[in-house]
Amino acid sequence: MKIANRGQAPLLEVKGLKKHFDITKGWFAKKRVLLKAVDGVDFKVYRGETFGIVGESGCGKSTTGNLVLRLLEASEGEILFEGQDLRKLTSEQMREKRKDIQMIFQDPFSSLNPRMRVEDIIAEPLRSHKVLEGGQLRQRVLELMDTVGLSPSFAPRYPHEFSGGQRQRIGIARALALKPKLIVCDEAVSALDVSIQSQILNLLSRLQREFDLTYIFIGHGLPAVKHISDRIAVMYLGKIVEVAGKEQLFRQPKHPYTQGLLSSIPISDPSLRSQKGMPVLEGDIPSPTNPPAGCRFHTRCPYATERCIQEEPPLKEVEGEGRMVACHEPIGSEHSCSTSIS
Ligand SMILES: Nc1ncnc2c1ncn2[C@@H]1O[C@H](COP(=O)(O)OP(=O)(O)OP(=O)(O)O)[C@@H](O)[C@H]1O
Ligand code: SF4
Ligand SMILES: [Mg+2]
Repeated sequence: MKIANRGQAPLLEVKGLKKHFDITKGWFAKKRVLLKAVDGVDFKVYRGETFGIVGESGCGKSTTGNLVLRLLEASEGEILFEGQDLRKLTSEQMREKRKDIQMIFQDPFSSLNPRMRVEDIIAEPLRSHKVLEGGQLRQRVLELMDTVGLSPSFAPRYPHEFSGGQRQRIGIARALALKPKLIVCDEAVSALDVSIQSQILNLLSRLQREFDLTYIFIGHGLPAVKHISDRIAVMYLGKIVEVAGKEQLFRQPKHPYTQGLLSSIPISDPSLRSQKGMPVLEGDIPSPTNPPAGCRFHTRCPYATERCIQEEPPLKEVEGEGRMVACHEPIGSEHSCSTSIS
């Protein structure tokens, strides 16, 4: 399994990315209410790797994915794809760029038009970008179906005639149609049974090798994210708190929140639990409209100190370990204060 080639320029680099939703109710509200869904996120994705993003529901994973594709407009930050800031492109230039960046969604049923035949669903991006037409277009659609393990004889059928796993294959074929460089997979297997999940994950891995694809793989199911990812970013309340190679992350999490997430994996999956006696995640996730000052995790962290309440820890590289952590006292360093403030 490859780990990012640090000598290379990243395919995608995200800097200071923010998305604040204005959720102020009523015209006469005295104060604007901003929901800080993504609140200053930085990461790099290298060619040929799978970059996983995990975290509890509502931490901003999908918003991050949607911002990368500009399905949502960011409030701040840069999205550098092959060095070019996507936020500076006109809508016409961005439409062209979407050939290179595609998305696979969680629910293949609701993302497939029920009134279109499978062949038309897969052909749609090729038609709208005027890449192919006529016999060549049909040939390409049949090839794509074959590539993702769907019998070309199913081409005239409608989405409801397929199982969940087959529908996800249709979504994958459509995402592949324009030969993208980067695919954002948002909970691409979360709605599927476990056995089907591994078939789809294996398919994604094969396609990655075959077509030199780069993935951002978003999920809250740690086993699936671990299965496919090379490096994993852990998100909490709109921020990335840790980025590490997957083995490193599971064997020796450095951020207390990562520890908590790992300890929440059911005991039936012991291979994925990193250390015995890790603190379990307790307490509610604070509101993204009013995130805690200092370290956002301090209200739930068993190691929080006075400094954590005052000062926000930046995401920085742990020397010599090739990983990033946003914690004043990452696990493995001596925790200076053992007094819990929660
Ligand atoms: N269009 C929107 N308007 C207002 N708030 C939004 C909007 N979209 C998302 N949010 C809020 O932004 C935060 C992040 O949402 P997001 O969907 O990115 O989380 P997620 O990590 O993908 O969660 P899940 O694991 O449940 O998919 C949540 O608090 C969500 O309610
Ligand atoms: S900075 Fe402090 S509160 Fe935040 S994770 Fe680290 S020890 Fe816990
Ligand atoms: Mg989501």
